[in-house]
Amino acid sequence: MNALDVIRDRAPGFAPKIAVLLGSGLGGLVEEAAAVASIPYAELAGFPQPTVGGHAGRLVLGHVGPTPVAILQGRAHYYESGCADEMAMAIRTMADLGCETLLQTNAAGSLRLDMPPGSLMVITDHINFTGVNPLFGVRDDRRFVDMVGAYDAAAAKRLLALAHGAGIRCHDGVYIWFCGPSFETPAEIRAATVLGADAVGMSTVPETILARHAGLKVAALSVLTNYAAGLVPGALGHDHTIAVASAASGDLRRLLRAFLERYV
Ligand code: HPA
Repeated sequence: MNALDVIRDRAPGFAPKIAVLLGSGLGGLVEEAAAVASIPYAELAGFPQPTVGGHAGRLVLGHVGPTPVAILQGRAHYYESGCADEMAMAIRTMADLGCETLLQTNAAGSLRLDMPPGSLMVITDHINFTGVNPLFGVRDDRRFVDMVGAYDAAAAKRLLALAHGAGIRCHDGVYIWFCGPSFETPAEIRAATVLGADAVGMSTVPETILARHAGLKVAALSVLTNYAAGLVPGALGHDHTIAVASAASGDLRRLLRAFLERYV
């Protein structure tokens, strides 16, 4: 059975309006959802098997307030396999289920001293610094995806307004994708700043491209877990990313809940 049929079998008639893709250490949102079904990626053909700590690898279908949502708890990263299209089936399946929007979260490094660790950033645009594209090899003519307005301006505005109203520290800015898994060098971060980036991470950009190819709107939120390499003294590490992401995930959760329960 293909993934779509498995989902329809496990959650008959369930029609999510929005898909939420949760990043490293940010899986807690699923507790906000009244779950209808929870399906491990292992049971969904073509879905990835995450190998990174903090990523569960599970699709949760349920309601946040009145809104039917599909929560993708965990993603695959380009650096895990060397394939940038690992999330293609998952994202295509969200579109086939009837979702209109993909709302992504991630952990990212801040390039700006006025955006401290623990605060959030709504992504308004991105820079693909890897030279890699998840649509390599796709043969249809829809592969020439327009990336102007890739991040839905209305959704970004709503996220910022909701954060402001709830007293959550939330910035907006440009996210730059480095492929990882090593962190960036201080020279790379200086270059990224010159290029116009505000935050850096190892995910999200391929999923945005895949989502736009599938006809989905995209919204994205970064939890800033650290200052990027060279901005302040000290070493970077994944354990730190997970720890700060978990600590800040309360704000993220509140903001996502507010956004999702009002999603129309
Ligand atoms: N660089 C890349 N990815 C990240 C970082 C970073 O500084 N922090 C969290 N994810």
